[in-house]
Amino acid sequence: MTMVASNLDAYVDAVVSDVVSWRRYLHAHPELSFQEERTAQFVYDTLCGFGNLILSRPTKTSVVARLVGGRPGGVLAIRADMDALPIREENDFEFRSTVDGVMHACGHDGHTAMLLGTAKILSELQAELPGEVRFLFQHAEELFPGGAQELVDAGVLDGVDQVIGIHLWAPLEVGKIGVRAGALMAAPDTFEITVIGKGGHAAQPHLTVDAIAIGAQVVTNLQHIVSRQVDPLDPLVLSVTTFHAGTADNVIPGTVEITGTVRSFRPDLREEVPALMERVVRGITSAHGADYTFSYTKGYRPVLNDAAVAERLRACLVDAFGEAVVVDATPTMGGEDFSAYQWRVPGTFFFVGAGNPEQGITYPHHHPRFTVDEAALPMGVKAFVTAAFALNRQE
Ligand code: NI
Repeated sequence: MTMVASNLDAYVDAVVSDVVSWRRYLHAHPELSFQEERTAQFVYDTLCGFGNLILSRPTKTSVVARLVGGRPGGVLAIRADMDALPIREENDFEFRSTVDGVMHACGHDGHTAMLLGTAKILSELQAELPGEVRFLFQHAEELFPGGAQELVDAGVLDGVDQVIGIHLWAPLEVGKIGVRAGALMAAPDTFEITVIGKGGHAAQPHLTVDAIAIGAQVVTNLQHIVSRQVDPLDPLVLSVTTFHAGTADNVIPGTVEITGTVRSFRPDLREEVPALMERVVRGITSAHGADYTFSYTKGYRPVLNDAAVAERLRACLVDAFGEAVVVDATPTMGGEDFSAYQWRVPGTFFFVGAGNPEQGITYPHHHPRFTVDEAALPMGVKAFVTAAFALNRQE
């Protein structure tokens, strides 16, 4: 490690301009989840230029590269997601999206570029690399059921000991890296409720079963699950995000459609929530003479970082960057399909700061003006290369 560590900054410096130009190219040519055909081809073609890599295409829009090092060691998988979002970009820089209504508004362009830069450096250092590094260029993080589970099912983690991944993170200032053992990102579940009343004339409510009045009670009472029925130290979000009913001001509608999301970390709590919700829906509707349907769909599993991997990662990052750079990551109730890998092998997902208020880089992920401070890109590359050497060394 020592020899590489002393030269590491020079290796990173040598790929920075490539990484930035790859990121800008990808930013200008975004593709939606499961449709990343040009992106995957770009990644494949770029990897072909590095040498020493064994390439494969486990699904139509993903790419995996294997690099077998010259020294004994473990097998580390490093993942980057590649998909964009159905958002119309409002940035006006030169490399803004050329596809109307599609935008890299989450930083996945940067993730892909950083992993390409990492593959380039490590392929040059093959003789010194312990073990094997498997580069996972994953499709479809943004759209459930997600690309990660497809890649796991395709066997990309067979023989892998540990997995890591980065999210460029706007809430964290550039220059910082956030690592955390345990819960980092939540399980994003969704629900649909139909309140079934009886429609009629708005002037004669007594002859109807008013689905709007009952639906409003359902929304209000669902909030009591988080505030009154769950331990306040056990994080849970229950948000009603759509409420649709009615067609005219003199008609009481017969039904209301309600949808929303539930976010949780603790798997046991996640299992309890649907029954708690249905009890409220059943109780409120039956109290008012209405009927209901209720369905609950589980999304990605929570991102729960393995304590041992997180600790080894933190230690090697502190060695490479210094104590002041490596901070405790703040958990978020957002979801990530990186969890699919962690259910299979121990892993850690971590944040590389990409926000910069002085440069106006403050917009949140998924905003039409989201962007990242490109100074974050070489930090991500250096973190990945450092981790590849440190985590693959056999203890
Ligand atoms: Ni993302």
